[in-house]
Amino acid sequence: MNKNIVCIGAGYIGGPTMAVIAKMNPDRKVMVVDINADRIAAWNSPDFELPIYEPGLEEVVREVRGRNLFFSTDIDSAILECDIVFVGVNTPTKMFGRGAGRASDLQYWEATARNIKAISKSDKIVVEKSTLPVRTAAAMSSILNCPAMPGEASDGPRFTVLSNPEFLAEGTAINDLLKPDRVLIGGPQTPEGEAAVAEIASVYAGKDGCWVPRERILTTNVWSAELTKLAANAMLAQRVSSINAIAGLCEATGADVDEVARVMGADHRIGAKFLKAGPGFGGSCFKKDVLNLVYLCETFGLHTAAEYWYGVVKMNDHQQERIVTRLFKEMFNTLANKKIAVFGFAFKADTGDTRETPAGRVVRLLNEEHVRISITDPKALSNAKRDLADICREGLAAPAPLFVDDPYEAARDADAVLLMTDWKLYPNLDWARIFASMRKPALVFDTRNCLDDEKLRTIGFKVLNVGK
Ligand code: NAD
Ligand code: UDX
Repeated sequence: MNKNIVCIGAGYIGGPTMAVIAKMNPDRKVMVVDINADRIAAWNSPDFELPIYEPGLEEVVREVRGRNLFFSTDIDSAILECDIVFVGVNTPTKMFGRGAGRASDLQYWEATARNIKAISKSDKIVVEKSTLPVRTAAAMSSILNCPAMPGEASDGPRFTVLSNPEFLAEGTAINDLLKPDRVLIGGPQTPEGEAAVAEIASVYAGKDGCWVPRERILTTNVWSAELTKLAANAMLAQRVSSINAIAGLCEATGADVDEVARVMGADHRIGAKFLKAGPGFGGSCFKKDVLNLVYLCETFGLHTAAEYWYGVVKMNDHQQERIVTRLFKEMFNTLANKKIAVFGFAFKADTGDTRETPAGRVVRLLNEEHVRISITDPKALSNAKRDLADICREGLAAPAPLFVDDPYEAARDADAVLLMTDWKLYPNLDWARIFASMRKPALVFDTRNCLDDEKLRTIGFKVLNVGK
């Protein structure tokens, strides 16, 4: 009998991951639960107005919702009904007390563990899907398997805690889930632990082995699995900061960062991916996970390692400050009351997610300079409005940013277009029409190096790029 699955947390991870698990395991019932009733209502919306935008997600949800995938706010019933509990709640950076600004805030995580224990009447496999500090599974196991009285053996249900971190990237989540480079399952090296790992491996193998080939399902001990997730994100973030550090040098010397990256990446030891210079990394994971690693290093007295990883975040912040510095210089050292149209607010293309987006930080820096800002984005405008609500209030000295659907409208009368997200639509716009509607001299700062800069110059724009 295949075991039913519940995932606690219906966010960017819980929703897409469980939709694909349900697709590839039509013989298992998969439930996704959340305390956020609006989110669950959106997952259940009759016209599939899902709470997150992700290419290909709607098709998968249309296929499986109501068949073997169910979204609900009834967390307790779902826990009772299922033998496998994935936990995909948020683990943001802690903003108070010890470890503030670095450590993970584990309060949602612990609340979930206590609830699973309180509700359960049968043994369960509990799977960490969230990204967590190393040894969180030990804390989780202590809470779940704690006896009612000290010294007594727990006579309630037994819980086996595994780590199964998720490596999908937003914008490509469905493809990453359908064809993962690897699936990682960390478990205790005990008979129950090994049986639990085999059970979760069979979920990823899919019905009749239709999904992830066995050789791509990697198993480790729990601590290695927890640390691998932080380490993988730190390595990727480090590559982005490294190429951005080279970009500054390219601007100073006349080298071209895209050429440098292309030739460096041709060395198979370096590889071509994650060498795109730009406005710095955003997204909910990289900064949070690198800071978490910094905190872990500090906790274990590894101060030089902590400083090393902290440099990755510092370099990233610096990259956004450099964008504003260069705009300043190029726009005659005064930005007050000039109009800048920000093209793209999402942290990358193909998502509406704006968490830690470089555009957010740059817009705030420009707002401090009293720039008139108009923001356009095909998918992220409602998140942008929410994120920037504090600088959109009436009565502030700086003009409130405007949010505009149509990029041509956003650019009208602007002194500069600042391209922050590499949406595919932007290179295909009618840039001559945009130029005609702007104040002169008209500037384009393409922080993603995705536009045809020669063509823009021919039209009459002044053009800035990153690393050129
Ligand atoms: P999210 O904020 O989109 O979703 C988390 C959900 O958990 C929210 O809807 C929240 O309401 C719910 N939640 C919080 N406490 C709860 C509780 N006690 N009971 C039920 N629901 C509860 O976050 P996310 O982006 O999905 O990230 C979740 C975890 O996955 C994080 O640890 C993150 O680091 C990790 N992760 C995220 C990504 C990504 O691309 N977003 C990739 C890999 C790993
Ligand atoms: C990342 C990891 O890639 C994924 O494995 C993990 O599960 C979650 O965190 P995500 O943040 O969704 O995924 O997107 P990713 O494609 O990694 O991009 C992160 C940021 O780095 C974006 O802002 C992107 O624009 C930037 N980036 C990426 C660059 O600036 N240059 C690059 O070469 C690659």
